[in-house]
Amino acid sequence: MKIFVVGTGRVAKCVIDKLTAKGHTIVCGSRHPESIAETEQCKPVLFDLHSEKNDITETVKGFDAVYFLAGSRGKDLLQTDAFGAVKLMQACEAVGIKRFILLSSIFALEPEKWAQEKSLQNITNYNIAKFFADNYLVSCIDLDYTIVQPSVLKEEEGNGMIELDPEHDGSNPIPDVAEVLVSVLERKNTFKKVIKMRSGDTPIGSALANI
Ligand SMILES: NC(=O)c1ccc[n+]([C@@H]2O[C@H](COP(=O)([O-])OP(=O)(O)OC[C@H]3O[C@@H](n4cnc5c(N)ncnc54)[C@H](OP(=O)(O)O)[C@@H]3O)[C@@H](O)[C@H]2O)c1
Repeated sequence: MKIFVVGTGRVAKCVIDKLTAKGHTIVCGSRHPESIAETEQCKPVLFDLHSEKNDITETVKGFDAVYFLAGSRGKDLLQTDAFGAVKLMQACEAVGIKRFILLSSIFALEPEKWAQEKSLQNITNYNIAKFFADNYLVSCIDLDYTIVQPSVLKEEEGNGMIELDPEHDGSNPIPDVAEVLVSVLERKNTFKKVIKMRSGDTPIGSALANI
């Protein structure tokens, strides 16, 4: 597939490595595309989520699927994490791209959990931004979406074992989150689903097969 990835950060790098290993062709965009090495299968381009929707629409023309793996680390929640994601969804709709994979965060659609879970207590504004982006994708537009909601990201080796729909937050190695993001791409049973995850004891393949 020809895939457009927004983001060139920790998760995006790992996702791009895994997608290219599967034979897909990637264009990835951020404000610092030089943070990713250009290869035969991966072309980094300058891309800013502050751009007008029409410009984003021109950029995504011709792709089969789009990943939103960007985030502002709390510094630009409205324009990047919330409205940036929404404009990207609208751009996909405008050019007929159905497959849209959104990296979100655990319990972003469940505000009642935000005060209960220790790791979420200090990031309410972030969760609000994700709440609106996730909700837009679920309720306001007709795309074949998958929303992946991981727990705290850890820079450590993955073991490929996860728990879906956990009752509480936890953590997950970035490679395992990337593996889920890549594995859902062509799994139709994950279309129009929100996948909450943390590290666990079920192999990723079996966990996703049972969704
Ligand atoms: N940290 C956690 O524990 C955690 C837990 C659950 C979910 N998440 C979610 O996972 C996401 C990805 O995590 P990560 O560690 O990979 O983040 P990261 O390393 O900070 O990468 C974020 C990416 O977003 C891009 N970006 C920021 N503003 C942009 C803009 N205006 N236009 C285009 N691209 C922009 C950045 O590139 P430029 O700055 O070059 O534009 C960067 O490539 C987070 O943003 C968060 O929503 C995080």
